[in-house]
Amino acid sequence: MSALLEVEGVSKSFGGNHVLSDVSFSLADGTLALVGPNGAGKTTLLNIVAGQLSPDRGAVRFRGARIDRLPPARIVHRGLVKTYQVVRPLRSFTVAQHIELFSRVRGSVDAERILALTGLGPVRDRRAGELSFGDLKRLELAKALAVNPELLLLDEPIGGLSRDEARRILGSLEELKRDGMRMIVVEHRLLETLSFVDQVVALDQGRTIFSGSPARFFADPAVRAAYLGGGHAPRG
Ligand SMILES: Nc1ncnc2c1ncn2[C@@H]1O[C@H](COP(=O)(O)OP(=O)(O)OP(=O)(O)O)[C@@H](O)[C@H]1O
Ligand SMILES: [Mg+2]
Repeated sequence: MSALLEVEGVSKSFGGNHVLSDVSFSLADGTLALVGPNGAGKTTLLNIVAGQLSPDRGAVRFRGARIDRLPPARIVHRGLVKTYQVVRPLRSFTVAQHIELFSRVRGSVDAERILALTGLGPVRDRRAGELSFGDLKRLELAKALAVNPELLLLDEPIGGLSRDEARRILGSLEELKRDGMRMIVVEHRLLETLSFVDQVVALDQGRTIFSGSPARFFADPAVRAAYLGGGHAPRG
């Protein structure tokens, strides 16, 4: 059986800047954290998987089929759905209207379940323009869930949040995982993120420096060199 997602030998440059060099990994099931220092190429890689950028070399396969030349909308229709590092609400739409709108893409979602899972029930009738930053991060997750994903790509779902707010979103992600949702999570907050993933891929300057279990991650010499050599320890 082929993996759900396979990234094979992906390279990408912007001008002379080699942002990704021969990156490969695969996800069969469960959850994967994609980590690395600022500028490592994490968002670029997620954008390539979601079809918003094309790789210069390499292939991306979803359920065994090449997707790296498909337009983003076709990839979303197949069930590969990404949230954004920077929140993108429709300011005049309410929370419930966002869920209704995004549920039209692939159909058949339980809006009440999404509101309960994200904790957005109490603000369901508020316009996005009136929401707190924590609620906007939860709305980003709710929008993606409304598309009924087969594989969820999350770009810094707890970035910028307080510890308590981060814990609420992590609780939602853990519940999703128990429900069987497959996820790739890009995060800088390693201790919080690595506690619930099955697999870790670490990039540094566009190269894969680690691929393995969370238990092995912190002890890995290349990981320590990438973070400590860059002047900062892995953040928890
Ligand atoms: N559209 C673009 N045009 C030119 N350079 C880009 C573009 N997108 C990203 N880059 C460059 O590619 C490199 C990797 O950026 P990317 O956003 O993928 O990193 P990241 O790992 O997500 O970082 P962060 O943790 O800060 O979000 C950076 O040097 C960035 O300046
Ligand atoms: Mg990024």
